[in-house]
Amino acid sequence: MRTYRIATIPGDGIGVDVTAEAVKVLDRVLPGISWTEFDWSCENYLRTGAMMPPDGPEQLAGFDAILLGAVGFPGVPDHISLWGLLIPLRRAFGQYVNLRPVRLLPGTESALRDRTADDLDILIVRENSEGEYSEIGGIHNPGRPDEFVLQESVFTRTGCERIIRYAFDRATERSGKLCSATKSNGLIHSMPYWDSVFERIAVEYPSVQTRQMHVDALAAEIVLHPDRLDVIVGSNLFGDILSDLAAAVTGGLGLAPSGNINPDADAPSMFEAVHGSAPDIAGLGIANPVAQILAGAMLLSHLGEDTAATAVDRAVRDVLAAGTVRTPDLGGPATTADLGTAIAARAAELAHTLTEA
Ligand code: NAD
Ligand code: IPM
Ligand code: MN
Repeated sequence: MRTYRIATIPGDGIGVDVTAEAVKVLDRVLPGISWTEFDWSCENYLRTGAMMPPDGPEQLAGFDAILLGAVGFPGVPDHISLWGLLIPLRRAFGQYVNLRPVRLLPGTESALRDRTADDLDILIVRENSEGEYSEIGGIHNPGRPDEFVLQESVFTRTGCERIIRYAFDRATERSGKLCSATKSNGLIHSMPYWDSVFERIAVEYPSVQTRQMHVDALAAEIVLHPDRLDVIVGSNLFGDILSDLAAAVTGGLGLAPSGNINPDADAPSMFEAVHGSAPDIAGLGIANPVAQILAGAMLLSHLGEDTAATAVDRAVRDVLAAGTVRTPDLGGPATTADLGTAIAARAAELAHTLTEA
């Protein structure tokens, strides 16, 4: 049996609670994972003056994968916490794909409750290294009446081509439908550029049926006609916003996983829930751990451990479908640990059955 070295960064708020549950589940389906926890968080920042040590990326580079909770907490500005950990790690490890699957899970009360699972199975492919997330800009004429601020976006040819090609490849493997999210009517330089790259690459994939939608109309389409969508590719900001929206229509942020993928595998990929540290419920032990557990399943599948990944995925579906253990966001009284433990037990049974078969 192969053994893996996986780094965890539980981070802040509910990131800590949900990561403990994901570790609990993964340990039941794949014995022999060696976990190393890194205590990098806002608390660490307040103690040491840095979110992570300057050689943080080097410390993580040798791991097979990283499981991240969430960082950011009131008391430390987000430009310090996120730009001191999450965003530099995504960039240091070339994780230019942010993969965000959104599915309607059984036993959850969706905003689209009359739809079935077949109607909502979307893969959001989010550009994860450039675009609107840029440090270029700043305030001009501070304190004067003509004060203004500029925030630049950067769309490189390489950055656009590689994420769009990645999305075409995923669409080819799935239903053959790909929708590109832009806003070419409002952002008249960057978005038409993205459109032109998309159209050029589309020629290489004649079997993929493409759509190009303005992101505002696409947001409405996700709610009104999710069945018409399969793979969605978008810039860093649009992919971010659409993934919270899509998670919410399935039943909440507690359900949606995400992977920061380096497709070239020359550095570790990093898996996390779509949601953040949820300061409003931090410390209460009631966060839904499903998103982070499904991020764990994505991690297993990325490592090629498909049986273990399937066991986790099915365990989540079985426990949610049974409906006996639900956290408050799903309408029940269960704690984070109750739901994690129920999924871990079911995952262990399934891993056993699938391995025997
Ligand atoms: P959030 O995702 O933390 O919370 C939004 C809402 O969803 C809250 O009401 C919260 O209680 C609820 N929620 C989120 N996850 C839940 C779960 N698992 N179970 C039940 N309810 C859940 O978004 P926010 O409030 O905008 O951000 C809080 C902090 O987290 C900020 O500092 C933000 O920058 C940071 N953040 C970090 C990451 C990350 O590290 N990957 C991602 C998003 C936000
Ligand atoms: C996410 C988060 C981050 C992002 C923030 C916290 C910088 O919202 O992972 O979705 O926008 O990338
Ligand atoms: Mn987000």
